Amino acid sequence: MSVVEVKDVYKIFGNKPKKAFPLLEKGMSKEEILKTTGNTVGINDASFSVEKDEFFVIMGLSGSGKSTLIRCLNRLIEPTQGEILIDGQDIVKADKDKLREIRRKKISMVFQNFGLFPHRNILSNVEYGLEVQDVEKEKRKAKAIEAIELVGLKGYEESMPDELSGGMKQRVGLARALANDPDILLMDEAFSALDPLIKKEMQDELLALQAKMHKTIIFITHDLDEALKLGDRIAVMKDGVIVQIGTSEDILTNPANDYVKEFVQDVDRSRVVTAEAIMRNPEALVSSKDGPRAAVRKMKENEFSSVYVTDKNKKLQGIVTIGDAIKAIEKEEKSLDNILIKEVPKASPDQQIIDLLPMAKSSDYPIAVVDGENVLLGIIVRASIILGIVGEES
Ligand SMILES: Nc1ncnc2c1ncn2[C@@H]1O[C@H](COP(=O)(O)OP(=O)(O)OP(=O)(O)O)[C@@H](O)[C@H]1O
Ligand SMILES: [Mg+2]
Repeated sequence: MSVVEVKDVYKIFGNKPKKAFPLLEKGMSKEEILKTTGNTVGINDASFSVEKDEFFVIMGLSGSGKSTLIRCLNRLIEPTQGEILIDGQDIVKADKDKLREIRRKKISMVFQNFGLFPHRNILSNVEYGLEVQDVEKEKRKAKAIEAIELVGLKGYEESMPDELSGGMKQRVGLARALANDPDILLMDEAFSALDPLIKKEMQDELLALQAKMHKTIIFITHDLDEALKLGDRIAVMKDGVIVQIGTSEDILTNPANDYVKEFVQDVDRSRVVTAEAIMRNPEALVSSKDGPRAAVRKMKENEFSSVYVTDKNKKLQGIVTIGDAIKAIEKEEKSLDNILIKEVPKASPDQQIIDLLPMAKSSDYPIAVVDGENVLLGIIVRASIILGIVGEES
């Protein structure tokens, strides 16, 4: 089931927000609407859902509506229209008590500027959310200490925020969010203010935490590399509109429009695109029961100089080359046994292109893509690797 479901959500900032709707319907741009009505379109008809344990990233240029959207999810901002279901309950319709309960039990938020209280020590900062919920003293201390350990700050309980580096402050922010043990973590540019090395460290730790604690994470960034690294799926926003939602690979290989294309043009595809995306069907394939004549025919038909051999369950047996097959015919051999080359370059479907490069370089044969059972899923020729890196379809 989806943990978060956003349906046709709009946020119009300004005096008479409803005035903007007919104009939006007419297809007027955000800029024109601001000019004619004074209203700012924050979010324009956003719909998406986030699955349990998913790492969902929202990306877009400054002003595209990322913060507005994420803040609607816990109603720090009131949507102008639309439904937002958290575990099936519409948070837009929730009354004060219900809203407080959802914020307490289900959703926590981590902010870019850490949001720490300067005069409270780390322990007390982390305890804060539990304190306002009237959690009993010993219990909240225990929970806070646990969260502090989780983010790697054990030993800093008594330190004051200004004694910590930016990365450590953000760990405190994260600990405070985790102390609640929420199902959903909202993170708005949480790592944007950090140095590149610290940022990388925090990304890795967040991924490790996610794997361990199974949180649903909605994470905003304007950094494409960060989005690609963290996101199971990425939503790209422009002028309040979600222009594309997809996996890293979807976004890179099939950008929905020029805006997305521009976003992704400088990416190192070799680290994102996988074997599965560039493999082709092994049109030419022979069965281990076939003989050298069948193999030669297959190769000639397809103008290949080698052909993969599988058994009746499509399990990979090896490869034969045209030269060997012709010699075998001359020797009147009936089976492929003597010419079958068993050492072939193999990859799994989720391997990145960058891992395939050394294989492609050192082997004369196309790379065989196999699953865990050694079933042949596809083959990759060198040209596909190059086209995969530059982002062209083969
Ligand atoms: N309180 C507000 N009143 C009026 N307009 C607002 C308000 N908050 C945001 N906006 C406008 O809504 C649009 C979306 O802003 P938002 O802060 O969500 O963008 P963002 O994608 O988070 O940008 P950034 O990357 O700079 O944080 C912008 O045009 C912004 O000016
Ligand atoms: Mg923002």
